[in-house]
Amino acid sequence: MADVVEQIEQVQREARAELAAAKTAADLEAFRIKYLGANGKVKGLMKLLGQAPKEQKPVVGQKVNTTRDQITSDFEQRKSDLAAGAPAGADAYDVTEPGKRPAIGNRHILMKTIDELTELFGRMGFSVASGPEVEDEFHNFVALNIPEQHPARDPLDNFYLTTGKEGGGTPPLLRTQTSTVQIRVMQHQKPPIRVVIPGRVYRPDTHDQTHLSMFHQLEALVVDKNVTMVDLKSTVLQFVHAYFGQDARVRFRPSFFPFTEPSAEIDVWFEDRQKWVELGGCGMVHPNVFKACNIDPEIYSGWAFGFGIERIAMRKYAINDIRLFVENDLRFLKQF
Ligand code: DAH
Repeated sequence: MADVVEQIEQVQREARAELAAAKTAADLEAFRIKYLGANGKVKGLMKLLGQAPKEQKPVVGQKVNTTRDQITSDFEQRKSDLAAGAPAGADAYDVTEPGKRPAIGNRHILMKTIDELTELFGRMGFSVASGPEVEDEFHNFVALNIPEQHPARDPLDNFYLTTGKEGGGTPPLLRTQTSTVQIRVMQHQKPPIRVVIPGRVYRPDTHDQTHLSMFHQLEALVVDKNVTMVDLKSTVLQFVHAYFGQDARVRFRPSFFPFTEPSAEIDVWFEDRQKWVELGGCGMVHPNVFKACNIDPEIYSGWAFGFGIERIAMRKYAINDIRLFVENDLRFLKQF
């Protein structure tokens, strides 16, 4: 028994001496492996316990445990002393070394573009509105004068949600256009109205260089007495020139939308591609849309537009593939 206890104490003495001599992190690690590691000397003491006669086991066991705890706490103590003091050699701290800067990223280019657009329209007297991305057919179609048989309501052209209205009717869908928010604004606010509405829209399109199944639109709506197409055109021209520069070329093409009459599409010239690219649609608000929102079309008139925000950013920053916005490639994102 004395023999066993002596062996245990011997290990403890050695450990103490070696710890006192440890000066570097490498020394400490070597110590840890030698004494506290899976095959270390402390584990070896446990084996001694196994060899001890039965009646001595409690005493030897206790001795082994206290020795293990002592070596462990001496080790931790030495480690923190070395860290706090000025250790010698290769492990010394250089307090003049610059700190490591954590990577915090930056705002996404589309979010920046939305900020720029809402700020620009803010200076032209527009406030900002928003609405839900999961919509009902009234806001996405009916109130926008899109009749039941219209191809825009085809299930293949929309993301209808399967958990629909109970007891029949069309299920809700992911909105295909921010024009839905025109309705929501007019339901809650009486003219004069002057709002822009940035937001996500969803369409089951195949992804390619110019299409994604989720993209962003900037909608605008102005309703007041005596609003004419001149107001629409001059506001759009002012926006295009303020945002893209005075020499940016823009053109209006006659078009059709159920919720405007007359309607037009707006193209801007992409110098890098040497071609006209459609920014979106616009027009004078259709009387039926006013009626759906309890606004008297005999008294009020208005104009609206809906532009693709990705397209705007692509024109502004010469981005040639819409998929870059969603691929999370830091080499792209860091440029903005
Ligand atoms: N909502 C249309 C679309 O997504 C764009 C649009 C056209 C919006 C004419 C309007 C508008 O506000 O007046 O294709």
